[in-house]
Amino acid sequence: MYTGDLADCIWQAVERFDELPDLMNVGLGVDYSVNDYYDVIAKVVGFKGKFTHDLSKPTGMKRKLTDVSRMLKFGWRPKTTLEDGIRQTVDFYRKHVGSQKQNKIGIGWAFISDKGRQRVQEILEANRLSQGSMVYKFEKEFAKLHEQRYGIALNSGTSALHVGLEAMKEKFNWQPKSKVLVPAVTFIASSNSCLHAGLEPVFVDVDARTYNINPALIEEKIDKDTVAIMPVHLFGQPCDMEPIVDIAKRHNLKIIEDCAEAHFAKYKGKTVGSFGEVACFSTYVAHTITTGVGGLVTTNDRELMEISRSLLAHGRACTCEKCVASDPTKVCPLRTQTEMDKRFMFIRLGYSYRIGEFEGVIGLDQLENKDFIMNTRKANAHYLTENLQDVQDYLQLPWYPDYIEHSFMMYPLIVRKDAPFTRRDVTQWLEKNNIETRPMMPLLNQPIYKKLFGDIEKDYPVAQWINHYGFYVGCHHDLERGQLDKIIYSIHEFLKERKLE
Ligand SMILES: Cc1ncc(COP(=O)(O)O)c(C=O)c1O
Repeated sequence: MYTGDLADCIWQAVERFDELPDLMNVGLGVDYSVNDYYDVIAKVVGFKGKFTHDLSKPTGMKRKLTDVSRMLKFGWRPKTTLEDGIRQTVDFYRKHVGSQKQNKIGIGWAFISDKGRQRVQEILEANRLSQGSMVYKFEKEFAKLHEQRYGIALNSGTSALHVGLEAMKEKFNWQPKSKVLVPAVTFIASSNSCLHAGLEPVFVDVDARTYNINPALIEEKIDKDTVAIMPVHLFGQPCDMEPIVDIAKRHNLKIIEDCAEAHFAKYKGKTVGSFGEVACFSTYVAHTITTGVGGLVTTNDRELMEISRSLLAHGRACTCEKCVASDPTKVCPLRTQTEMDKRFMFIRLGYSYRIGEFEGVIGLDQLENKDFIMNTRKANAHYLTENLQDVQDYLQLPWYPDYIEHSFMMYPLIVRKDAPFTRRDVTQWLEKNNIETRPMMPLLNQPIYKKLFGDIEKDYPVAQWINHYGFYVGCHHDLERGQLDKIIYSIHEFLKERKLE
C-alpha cells in the first residue's frame, strides 16, 4: 500500500477517532504476489530483462495477507493503485534520493579506510613528514602491481611525464626538439610535458570508438626526428598496444605510456605501464588511485630509474634511499668518500618534485583497497551502459573490445553529430540536475595550443568531433545505485523533454 494513502488513513482515524474499531487493518484489499510486484516495477522502470527468484520464498502464489473488512466498514479506501504507488515512489526516488548523499554527483572521490586514517595519525605522531619508508613502500607496491621493477613517486602526473621524458632524453641521447607522437585527444599535460622536456609533440588523430591514439595513423607521422610514441590510455581504456609496440620496434622508437587515467587497466592480460621503457601515472584526486596530489614513474630500467630519482630531487648525485630520504639516523657511506658531500652534489639540472609520507601512506591505503575501488567503478560503468542502451541514437556510449580490462576513471559520452541538440544543451541540463559534467579533453583548440601550433584542429577530424561533442560524467566508487539512477533518469528526461523518447 502506498505510504501517502496510509498517512491519509491515519489522519482520518485521528479525525474520526470515536468511530474506530478496536483494531483495524489497512491495505489495498487486493491479492498481490511477489511476481505481480516484479511485473509492475518492471513496467514502471522500463526493465526489459528477466527476474530471477529465490524459490525458497513465496513466488506467484496468491495469499490473502490482510483482512481489510473493518477498514471497509469504517468507510476508508486507499486511492492509489499498486502501479500508481510504485510510479510515484520511483519518481520520488529518482528525483531526490540520488542527490541526498551529496549535493553534486561528482567525477571523483577519494576513499580512505579507517586503517588509512589511523596511519596518517601515526605519521603525524612520528613527526616524519618528508619522503621516508611509507613512500618507498608505496613505490615498490605500486610498481609490482603494474608489473614493473621500479616505482618513483613524485608530486604530480605531469612531473612524472616530464621526468620520464627527460630521463629517456638523457639515456637515449635525444637531441633537443626531437619528436614524440601524442594523441590529439588527451589532457593537456601529456603534450605539455614534451614541451617542458624540450621535445616536440606531434599529434596523431584518435580512434572514433575508443578515443585513443589510432595506430593506423601513426606511421604517416614518423620522420627522422621522431624518437618516441606516447600512448595515453584515456578514461581507463588501454590503447591498442599490439600494433603500437610493433610500429615502435620497426622504427626504433621508444614508448612512454601515459597511464594517468588507467591504473590497473589491462590489455590482453598485460597491465598498462608494462609495454614501454617508461610509464607515468597520476594520483591526483579525481583519479582512480589517489594520494591527493601525486604521480609515479614506473620502469624496468635501472638507469632510467636512477636518472628519474635524481631529476626529481634537484639533480642529486646519489639516489640511494638514505640520501633521498634525508634520514639523519642513516648515513650513506658514499657521503664521506668524495671531497664534496655526495648527498649535496648535483650532477644534472633537476627539479623539486618530491612527495611526502602523507601521500605515501594514503597511496598504500588505496592499493590495499584497489579491488573495491576498481570493481565498483566497473560495475557502475556497466550499470550506466546497461540502462542507457536506448539513448544510443543520440549519445555514443563507451565501446571497448573484450580483450581489454577497462578501469573506468570516468564515463565518456559523445553527442551524435546529427542529434537535434548540442553538447551544451545536455550538459547544462545535467548540471541543473546536480550532475557534474566535464568536456572530453579538448586539446588542439585550446587558446595556448592555437598560439603555439596554429589552427590545426581541422586536420584531426575525430579529435575535432570529440572536442565539440564529447563530455563525461562520473562512475566512481562512492556512487550509489540511486545516484547512478539519477544520471540515467536525467538523460532520459532530457530526451523526453525534447520529444525524442
Ligand atoms: C592523461 C593525463 N595525463 C597527465 C595528467 C597529469 O596529471 P597531474 O594532474 O597529476 O599532473 C593527467 C591529469 O589529469 C591526465 O589525465
